[in-house]
Amino acid sequence: MDKKTSNAMWGGRFAAGPDAVMEAINASIGFDRRLAAQDIEASRAHAAMLGATGILSLSDVEAIREGLLTVLSEIEAGEFVFSTALEDIHMNVESRLRELIGEAAGRLHTARSRNDQVATDFRLWVRGQCDAAIGGIEALMRALLAQAEAGAEMVMPGFTHLQVAQPVTWGHHMLAYVEMLDRDRGRFRDARARMNECPLGAAALAGTGFPIDRHMTAEALGFARPMANSLDAVSDRDFALEFLSASSVCATHLSRMAEELVIWSTAQFRFVTLSDRFSTGSSIMPQKKNPDAAELIRAKVGRINGALVALLTVMKGLPLAYSKDMQEDKEQVFDAADSLMLALAAMTGMAADMAPNAERLRVAAASGFSTATDLADWLVRALGLPFREAHHVTGALVKRAEERGVDLPELSLAEMRAAHPGITDEVYAVLGVENSVASRRSFGGTAPAGVRERVAAWRAEFPA
Ligand code: ARG
Repeated sequence: MDKKTSNAMWGGRFAAGPDAVMEAINASIGFDRRLAAQDIEASRAHAAMLGATGILSLSDVEAIREGLLTVLSEIEAGEFVFSTALEDIHMNVESRLRELIGEAAGRLHTARSRNDQVATDFRLWVRGQCDAAIGGIEALMRALLAQAEAGAEMVMPGFTHLQVAQPVTWGHHMLAYVEMLDRDRGRFRDARARMNECPLGAAALAGTGFPIDRHMTAEALGFARPMANSLDAVSDRDFALEFLSASSVCATHLSRMAEELVIWSTAQFRFVTLSDRFSTGSSIMPQKKNPDAAELIRAKVGRINGALVALLTVMKGLPLAYSKDMQEDKEQVFDAADSLMLALAAMTGMAADMAPNAERLRVAAASGFSTATDLADWLVRALGLPFREAHHVTGALVKRAEERGVDLPELSLAEMRAAHPGITDEVYAVLGVENSVASRRSFGGTAPAGVRERVAAWRAEFPA
């Protein structure tokens, strides 16, 4: 068979080779070479199983094993010549194996198809990427935990609508992200557990007449079990969708954190100083220090969400079982995975390096009548006012302070009493920001004592 006129792997019934455009649209080797290690790992497991079940001779299996190891080392060394004519990673590897070991290479594809092969390779790759994402998330959790620990008492403004709402602590704010990241980690763990079933041996779509042992290959590849339905095994990509969806949610969290860093590092806020390592200068404005890394993290979620929507759209309406449409799964997942890992690493560096400006945070925390709720709560506690009435009285005092251009603690007792005669000078004790945060001891609240407890709980998993 002449390679130039038809494909050496499947060209038996073809008289002519593909048009150049056909080759261009059909080939995936430009990107699926990233699956090389997984492809060879799966082929080794398959070959060993074919030997153990007596389907192949042990000498063929040994030749295949040796040959595959050589191919892997060639790829790792960058010596492997990838061929577009050979379409994809599976056929590139097999073709090189044939050059190395001859006829035995042709027996490797017994009782399998590229359909179960690619499903297996890709599952292995995405599974590994779940682990990588979890590792990246944990590194960021550690960095934020250190920030939380150092700033457990540091008062800062808490916002709603990006308007000052109530004082909170820096530690509490950092821990908010730790909790989000913990759930992100949980989503990757869940997805990983669900995807950890092996498609190999489903063959093209219907299983095979050869006496294969799917439990053996599943175990060799670290899967919990073989997938139970061959049609499902070759034709679903829900594992990749789950990975992308977990990535989207995580990237959304990173994007929100990035946005806060962008805001906090402005000259107007000055809540935080970002390190030079994660900032850039301007080519024209010498005073500038721009939070480019934060901005790029804020943006990366766009491509990750895009990848999720793209793959959902590819998969919708596809009849069972395999269709070539599914080859479009990989680039999206590769790009999303790379983007997520980069965003996590950059955010980890920024979070570890950033320096909160305690003085600025404290001043800002006390601005905007941030302890008005503490005043209203005091009226409820000390005077027995219904909260709605206390809210009203406090509103009048805020209005008065605003008119005079002062903060609540600067109103005189006489002014306080004009709003409600029962007010005593004990009220001033609750108007300070430290008192405010310290009082918020409800479970999950911002009090330094609560923050320290939560940090201690996290330290059990992430020791300092
Ligand atoms: N490159 C293909 C993919 O990524 C491999 C499977 C091809 N199978 C087939 N029957 N053409 O999906």
